[in-house]
Amino acid sequence: MARILITSALPYINGIKHLGNLVGSMLPADVYARFQRQRGAEVLYICATDEHGTPAELAARAAGQNVEAYCTEQHDIQRQAGEAFGLSFDHFGRSSNAPNHRLTQHFAKVLEDKGLIEERTDRQIYSIEDERFLPDRYVEGTCPHCDYEKARGDQCDNCGRLLDPIDLKDPYSAISGSKNVEMRETTHLHLLQSKMQDRITQWVESKQDWPLLTKSIAKKWLKEGLRDRAITRDLKWGIPVAYQGEVRPGYENKVFYVWFDAPIEYIGATEEWALANNENWERWWCTDKGAEDVKYIQVMGKDNVAFHTVSFPATMLGSEEPWKTVDTLKSLNWLTWYGGKFSTSEKRGIFMDQALEILPPDYWRWHLMANAPESDDASFTLEHFAGVVNKDLADVLGNFVNRITRFCSARFGETVPVEGAYGDAENTLIAELDTRMSAYTDYLEKMEFRKAFVELRAIWVAGNEYLQVAAPWVVIKEDKDKAAASVRCALNLIALFATLSRPVIPFTADKMFAIFSLDPEEASLWPENATSALSRFSGGEVFTPSEVLFAKIEDDQIEAWREQFGAE
Ligand code: 2FM
Ligand code: ZN
Repeated sequence: MARILITSALPYINGIKHLGNLVGSMLPADVYARFQRQRGAEVLYICATDEHGTPAELAARAAGQNVEAYCTEQHDIQRQAGEAFGLSFDHFGRSSNAPNHRLTQHFAKVLEDKGLIEERTDRQIYSIEDERFLPDRYVEGTCPHCDYEKARGDQCDNCGRLLDPIDLKDPYSAISGSKNVEMRETTHLHLLQSKMQDRITQWVESKQDWPLLTKSIAKKWLKEGLRDRAITRDLKWGIPVAYQGEVRPGYENKVFYVWFDAPIEYIGATEEWALANNENWERWWCTDKGAEDVKYIQVMGKDNVAFHTVSFPATMLGSEEPWKTVDTLKSLNWLTWYGGKFSTSEKRGIFMDQALEILPPDYWRWHLMANAPESDDASFTLEHFAGVVNKDLADVLGNFVNRITRFCSARFGETVPVEGAYGDAENTLIAELDTRMSAYTDYLEKMEFRKAFVELRAIWVAGNEYLQVAAPWVVIKEDKDKAAASVRCALNLIALFATLSRPVIPFTADKMFAIFSLDPEEASLWPENATSALSRFSGGEVFTPSEVLFAKIEDDQIEAWREQFGAE
């Protein structure tokens, strides 16, 4: 049985995530995890909140809470939102938990023993007014690349480039707004990535099947030459710079950098999962303890790719320990909000909790995945969203299910009719389904989601077209057996659609299985071919028509949401 480890980029703890974050990492990872489980693979899907660093400290400060209490509260909020969206994590951990402390300190110690960590003194921005250093997001200023005036010390939100705080023009403190800042010397541990250039290059080149976006970002960084980077910070909240319980002298007021410990939490969260479930985490991560046959997939937005193709591999490979490294790295572009940025502070865009207040999860899941920002950035608009939902979900899928169950119930009763045999129309349908199911399966396997869902939609359409041709409501007048056979075929299609759609719209798929009182876990095993799928019901099975599966979105709802969510 295939064993597949899936991790999606860990969402920062600083507040609930928006639809762009969702489709950029967690949702595609979930769809893939669900698909592989339905194929019978042993899947472990791990995620966690990324709780350290300046994003956490600044958000806690803004909320007027101590950072630990803030993280506990926000972790719970994100965990619940994920559950409500149907994100099927096997474990949703916390980077501030004990396993990550142990592992992060372990990696640092091993890397230092290997001569890959060195203490260096360099200059950082110090705020006189705040009486402290201003690492990463504690400093804001003008982006040296695009002149955006509110660039953060670690990254510019306008052009997406990763930054070093000392690159910013006109820096000011994000805590007090003070411009009274100066450069002061401070000592930090540095990971000597420059010594890893050849090893990382070789490793990247060995990854033949990485998507273009992933590979081009990795190559760009390698071409520029890997730079040594500080892996500690002058902060209080984080993982102490300690080995075997002893704080490293001089590091009493320093912690590891969030981007050093966050990816290690993929392993830490697996250990949390193992502890809670009496499982073994090493068989997923240690190639000398069973992980050699694991296929490891990472999913993330494009701004995270450098950290996962260069920095995290430097940590893992540099240790020279037998860690499982990523096999396939799926990266996504940005989803924009009407062409601009989603923004919490400016109340632009829809966040996960708000989305579920207005519509059930599958409406969002379908639209986001069918229009995933894969080859380019994609723009979310409520108008487009409503159009897709009304057409694909209500008119094509929902209508099919509703129409055939009602018709059967009225003319044959609530039992799958047994009479008649499949003929030409069914054979034509089966041939089309076989081709499309195989294309759909291949695209999902390759994580080419847009293409996959074009196929799935075409499969739903093929069902509708079949019904138009078979027209049991006409045929029944002259040949009741023939009409019975096509109704049986269409009822079988509902179960097949439920199976194929379950990775992306799991809640609806389960409602469709419920029509036939089927256990979704058992019934949703990935079908071999259309012939066997369409003979699941041979007649005599009892069913109960469902309520309408999808309500259409009306113009006045769009208008109200435009107002509520700041559409322009
Ligand atoms: O960009 C982000 O949202 C980060 N919190 C992603 C971290 S991914 C991993 F390395 F933990
Ligand atoms: Zn910029």
